[in-house]
Amino acid sequence: MTARKIIIDTDPGQDDAVAILLALASPELEVLGITAVAGNVPLSLTQKNALIVCELAGRTDVAVYAGCDAPLTRKLVTAEHVHGKTGLDGPQLPTPKMELQAAHAVEFIIETLRREDAGTVTLCPLGPLTNIATAFQQAPDIVDRVQEIVLMGGAYFQVGNITPAAEFNIYVDPEAADIVFRSGAPIVVMPLDVTHKALTTQPRVDAFRAMGTEPGRMVAEWTDFFERFDKEKYGSEGAPLHDPCVIAYLIQPNLFSGRHINVEVETQSELTLGMTVADWWRVTDRVPNALFMGHLDADGFFALLTDRIGRL
Ligand code: RIB
Ligand code: CA
Repeated sequence: MTARKIIIDTDPGQDDAVAILLALASPELEVLGITAVAGNVPLSLTQKNALIVCELAGRTDVAVYAGCDAPLTRKLVTAEHVHGKTGLDGPQLPTPKMELQAAHAVEFIIETLRREDAGTVTLCPLGPLTNIATAFQQAPDIVDRVQEIVLMGGAYFQVGNITPAAEFNIYVDPEAADIVFRSGAPIVVMPLDVTHKALTTQPRVDAFRAMGTEPGRMVAEWTDFFERFDKEKYGSEGAPLHDPCVIAYLIQPNLFSGRHINVEVETQSELTLGMTVADWWRVTDRVPNALFMGHLDADGFFALLTDRIGRL
């Protein structure tokens, strides 16, 4: 079985870090490269954090690229209140020895999609969609060459986490999200509606710690730190592992279910800026443009995650 070729676009972030580890531990996937984008913390940190995670996985062979350091038109909004000053707060962080690639992330995305056979590369955005939208603007010819975009972002029933109406990744760069959702590329959305069901619990975190490995320890300490925000805000039992849902879908799609519906992004109203207006009940005749997930088998998700992290 040939591994599925993917590019991970990311703003690490503890949950991004777990998603990257899951991808690097899974033989079903071939990570062609990791592109960093400004989001949870500024680009100077997300690019460094991506290197740290690759080294933690023992994968210094993975090419990491720095991308856009600000949204297309707006000022960057970050989330240190959730992820801490470094973006990977929790454990002591090593200084990465790995170097960034010289090319810009957008150039890497364009070149890769033009080089690889059409329909064989999946884009996995885990942060604001600035890099992806910029690549589509600079090279419209690559849109039809994308196999699929599987992204973490948006919400319908869960509405918002950074404002009452919007999820963080979409809110930070709504213009970029609008470009991606209107692009015509096949899109699978992991909204808060499923990621809020991917909750850590003490036994689940203990399973990471019990591995007795550095990756297991780091994942446990990242989730210990990351969960305090959601426990306080939602009274939930643990942290929602948002971004690993994207990678888990690529490995075991049957862990998820959803609907192929129309999803549009609010870019005008200050009140609802960044809202993903998902026609979940199909009350309009707007053309469906995304597979929008609504259900997750949480036990199956954590079984997969624990098995794979345990292999590192
Ligand atoms: O709203 C959750 C998303 O925002 C996740 O991708 C998290 O890492 C942050 O980027
Ligand atoms: Ca993220």
